[in-house]
Amino acid sequence: MIQSTADKPVKELTPDEAAVELARLAQLIAEADKSYFGEDRPSLTDSEYDALRRRNALIEKAFPKLRRADSPSERVGAAPAGRFEKSRHLRPMLSLDNAFDDLDVTEFVARVRRFLALDETVEVAFTAEPKIDGASLNLLYVDGALILAATRGDGEEGENVTANALTIADIPRRLAGAPERLEVRGEVYMSHADFFALNARLAEEAARDGREPDPFANPRNAAAGSLRQIDPAITAARPLRFFAYGWGEASEKIAVTQAEAINRFRKMGLPVNPQTVRCLNVADMLGHYRSIEALRSDLGYDIDGVVYKVDRLDWQDRLGFVSRAPRWAIAHKFPAEQAITVLEAIDIQVGRTGALTPVARLRPVTVGGVVVSNATLHNQDEIERKDIRIGDTVVIQRAGDVIPQIVEVRTEMRPARAVRFAFPENCPICHSRAIREEGEVVRRCTGGLICPAQAIERLKHFVSRQAFDIEGLGSKQIETFFADGLVREPADIFTLEARQRGGEINLFLWKRKADGTQILRDGQPVATNQRSVENLFSAINDRRRIALPRLINALGIRHVGETNARIFATAYGSFDAFRNAAVAARDNAEPAYSELLGIEGVGPIVAASVISFFAEPHNCEAVSRLLSEIEPEAAATTIADSPVAGKTVVFTGSLERFTRDEAKARALAVGAKVAGSVSAKTDFVVAGPGAGSKLKAASELGVKIMTEDEWLAMLDGL
Ligand code: IVH
Repeated sequence: MIQSTADKPVKELTPDEAAVELARLAQLIAEADKSYFGEDRPSLTDSEYDALRRRNALIEKAFPKLRRADSPSERVGAAPAGRFEKSRHLRPMLSLDNAFDDLDVTEFVARVRRFLALDETVEVAFTAEPKIDGASLNLLYVDGALILAATRGDGEEGENVTANALTIADIPRRLAGAPERLEVRGEVYMSHADFFALNARLAEEAARDGREPDPFANPRNAAAGSLRQIDPAITAARPLRFFAYGWGEASEKIAVTQAEAINRFRKMGLPVNPQTVRCLNVADMLGHYRSIEALRSDLGYDIDGVVYKVDRLDWQDRLGFVSRAPRWAIAHKFPAEQAITVLEAIDIQVGRTGALTPVARLRPVTVGGVVVSNATLHNQDEIERKDIRIGDTVVIQRAGDVIPQIVEVRTEMRPARAVRFAFPENCPICHSRAIREEGEVVRRCTGGLICPAQAIERLKHFVSRQAFDIEGLGSKQIETFFADGLVREPADIFTLEARQRGGEINLFLWKRKADGTQILRDGQPVATNQRSVENLFSAINDRRRIALPRLINALGIRHVGETNARIFATAYGSFDAFRNAAVAARDNAEPAYSELLGIEGVGPIVAASVISFFAEPHNCEAVSRLLSEIEPEAAATTIADSPVAGKTVVFTGSLERFTRDEAKARALAVGAKVAGSVSAKTDFVVAGPGAGSKLKAASELGVKIMTEDEWLAMLDGL
């Protein structure tokens, strides 16, 4: 068998072969550098760059005389550790809750009124403006000068794209009459005309270079992709636009109302959306929604709804936010776009908790500018209720990022060969029995730890954005590592580097097609080039110190997602405290059990799930192995430093300075726990007029009692 020089171990190369190999490597590395540093669309997903360099260095060492004049070792081409520096926002960038119909909007307004305890005579004004479908950007102006631009990232920390933002004509470098320090928030977008022109240009360039064209799917992707270019010259050549819609940190009060603030933005020189109006009631809001909807196709850029915001900023402050979204704003989405296609097959996917989810495989069809070929079918009942059969013609819809759904079957078009789907009773992956418990809609695989599908999904969740968020380690890479036996559980991610250095494994990252097969060029696998193996290791090492809520979320405990993970992190302060409490709470008679249930927001289902997670020895062992590789941080210091962090407070009597919801929300936000009844564990009782038995219990137990004003004074400045 003839072995190509590319496959030969360095030791076996003849000098002639070594020379050929050095030439090949020099070319490959130069190409990789070019696409890494200069190209707008990294066509090679990168990595083995380092393996190529290592091989080159080994050959040069074995054959020093053959070292080339253009040797890659001469160039400091090492890729930076991350594409962009991370940048922490001065205030978190929140997202928005959605309203899908008029009733949701009416309820939103009623919620706002209730929270603020406003009587019917008080008018609440809202601003209404288009929700731009682009990429959000945070601009920091100091003394009126733009000094930093960052993407949203996970809301706390984004990527520093300042050099790119400076190339966007809509974004002023200087603001007139701005506060000393101001974070401006807005959306970067691309107009329809510019989007089509850009795709046409990219297609021409691809044809000229003999590459497959790889157009952007929609203007939003084009905007986000163009903003995150390594080379600002490429961003500059992309026609990006910007609208400012809000702010984060501001060193002084910018206005009294949202409408005034946006007006002031305009005077400072920021582009603001001209379709912004002030509405005095629900009818006005819905009226504006309808008129923007009518304008939608003529705007020339993508919008996906209308955002309503409480106009008075003091009310916005009082309303605050819950989870990741403000209570004072909501996005009223436009109805989903629909299309007709054929259901070609139904596959079963196994999720991280073993849930068997049917997925519709569709004849590809364009809906709202995006090609759709899969839709969720939710569960067995859904298929039966809608009488969906394979071969049917179906109406599908998608709204924004939501997974497309099948709305209805066109039974009049049903072909004679359409067949009913027999829902499997065994897991299609590990073949364990899949059972549907009494009262449950979901059928679950009972394979647990032996089911590879569940293991992979758990690992994907572990590295996901809200969890460990390891750059360069996404779902596809996890699948490959899992299939190659390199990563079976979370701790394995953190031992990759040591195993590679110790020669135990040989980590190669090769460019792959969507179906997972390697891409070959001249019969050789193509090394990826966006990120080298070393970059992956450093991204992994960056995450050895991890914020507590991320770690708790990453474990994938049922019913414990981002929000509950935050609640537990705040309540327990450290991972050990959380784990010890969960283990101790196994015994219902232990105080740990009532403490767990006493945490605001934790009900019996969540508590049971946490307890049973830590009752499973395999889980505990996997967690211990993980903990020997990482260092969880204590819960957020700002909250831990507050005088009420971890303290339990009871509100009683008729509160006058705030509503009960407001009092509770504010207390939670500063790290306190809120309880409904007074016990020896209560730290403070905040009593309004008319307080009765709880006040009495507090004085008998010697619990500190305070007025609303005293409580507010204590929270002042937090
Ligand atoms: S206000 C705290 N206004 O929508 C509220 N957001 O789903 C912050 N967006 O990440 C958002 N147009 O990038 C607001 N007129 C608008 C918007 C808008 C687009 C984006 C924004 C945010 C996302 C939330």
